[in-house]
Amino acid sequence: MTFPGPEAFGELAANISEILYTEGQIQQRVLEIGATVSRDYEGRRPLLVGVLKGVFPFMADLMRSITIPAEVDFMAIASYSPEERRRGVVRLQKDIEQPIDGRHVLFVEDVVDTGLTLHYILDQLKSRNPASLHVCTMFDKPSRRLIRLPIRYKGFDLPDRFVVGYGLDYRELYRNLPFVGMLRAGVFRPEDAKKESPK
Ligand code: IMP
Ligand code: MG
Repeated sequence: MTFPGPEAFGELAANISEILYTEGQIQQRVLEIGATVSRDYEGRRPLLVGVLKGVFPFMADLMRSITIPAEVDFMAIASYSPEERRRGVVRLQKDIEQPIDGRHVLFVEDVVDTGLTLHYILDQLKSRNPASLHVCTMFDKPSRRLIRLPIRYKGFDLPDRFVVGYGLDYRELYRNLPFVGMLRAGVFRPEDAKKESPK
């Protein structure tokens, strides 16, 4: 399946100043990651875990690029205050449905930014004694990182800019774009940079 091109996304595309990664580039990279994961986890029946909502397009594409038996589960985190976020506190609204002790867990992310959310969730998961726990992210903003995190599989790096598409939202819109781009200046309100959006 090929999704509609950028020009078909009229109102949404009009607010994108620059496409950073096209649908084709994203799909190609996801296929490569899927092939690598399939090789690395052969015979281990990995459990892919993601946090809603931003990760859903990547998770769907990644799952279908993985050719070995694999399971998927999701968590949801509650909206949190900037203060809680600075302390790296995350409130779980929905946990995964199964125990993970002895399981090979691959944590799947849409974008790793400061890394605070991910760090907290990984700590939680580690305490449940998985056989292994690694991170796979479609996008990475390494220049924004506040905490060191090992990332085993990565799609693409992003500049320190606010981007939307392929699951990433601005005020809950733009998630359906099959590509990733920068919001046009004037659309993004500077005060939103300080606010934290839940996934
Ligand atoms: P952090 O790594 O704890 O800072 O949180 C990363 C989360 O912030 C992601 O899962 C997204 O929900 C959100 N986020 C970070 N950068 C962007 C962006 O450029 N566009 C949309 N959401 C973003
Ligand atoms: Mg968000």
